[in-house]
Amino acid sequence: MTVHVLGIETSCDETAAAVVIDGRDVCSSVVSSQVDLHARYGGVVPEIASRAHVELVNDVIGAALLEAGVTLADVDAVAAAHGPGLAGALLVGVSAAKAIALARGCPYVGVNHHEAHVYAALLHDAELAPPFVTLVVSGGHTLLVAMDGHGRYRLLGQTVDDAAGEAFDKVARFLGLDYPGGPAIDRLARTGDPAAIPFPRPMLDDGHDFSFSGLKTAVVLYVRDHPEADVADVAASFQAAVVDVLVAKLLRAAELERDRTGTSPTVVIGGGVAANSVLRERLTEEGARTDVRVVLPGVELCTDNAAMVAAAAWWRLGADGPTPLSGGAYPNLRIA
Ligand code: KG4
Ligand code: ZN
Repeated sequence: MTVHVLGIETSCDETAAAVVIDGRDVCSSVVSSQVDLHARYGGVVPEIASRAHVELVNDVIGAALLEAGVTLADVDAVAAAHGPGLAGALLVGVSAAKAIALARGCPYVGVNHHEAHVYAALLHDAELAPPFVTLVVSGGHTLLVAMDGHGRYRLLGQTVDDAAGEAFDKVARFLGLDYPGGPAIDRLARTGDPAAIPFPRPMLDDGHDFSFSGLKTAVVLYVRDHPEADVADVAASFQAAVVDVLVAKLLRAAELERDRTGTSPTVVIGGGVAANSVLRERLTEEGARTDVRVVLPGVELCTDNAAMVAAAAWWRLGADGPTPLSGGAYPNLRIA
């Protein structure tokens, strides 16, 4: 029997819904981004995000069902990301999922948003199986997670201050570039020299944790001292510093996995920053140069989406059963 899971994602500024069969086959994945609503504030405004989710969620669910060629009667379980994320934003997806589950008399599954990012890689590559190490880098999170098996994770490291995407957004804003800053810096950096300015590589050799706030300050101080600096060089040099740290820490974690398991390791990336062209190039090169297997899901699976929520929910439903309808939203939920 095939199981159709309707997934809903509203943890930040994307309203998304998807229908996935048996945690593998994506029948539809609809994402409505609120980027335009938040652009003039230079970051996500929680209250605006929640209100936009309320307005959009029914239409996005309807579009996902239509695109999949199914109706609510065909849905066997309804899942929502129930944390971590913005409380008011999460509550919209959770409430919508619980309402549908109640009306349909089918299971509701609350999904950890970080676990969902890990499952995006499993959707991308049907051959992929744990153990592997995932780097989840977005506007809200920077995590290094080892997946040892389904439902078994070790949090290896995380940011002690800003998320990587947050640093891209803040630096871009300071440089007068568009929001979101990551794509703007990525574009501009193509015309700049990544070796022009030796920005620090924070915590490069210091464990699995990350820090980006000092790097952001270094950019601000440099530009104040060198107003004549070429903005493309600043963007390229900043991006090179972030990518150096991300790649080094991911590969170091992979080497520790090699020592632990005695097999060649696999690394995967997720989150909006995983769209970064230099990060992808560098990891592709590492994959070709070494025996580390590098899995780079497409950008649409890396950024927030509901297909990854539905995929994770299918595994969770099989392992743990439904989430009680009394379940809430958990803004600080951890993966391990
Ligand atoms: O996963 P996502 O869509 O939403 C969450 O934050 O959860 O990630 C958005 C973040 C933003 O900070 C954005 O600037 C960054 O991902 N981003 C990038 C690129 N594309 C998006 N950062 C660096 N390079 C990119 N090409
Ligand atoms: Zn995310």
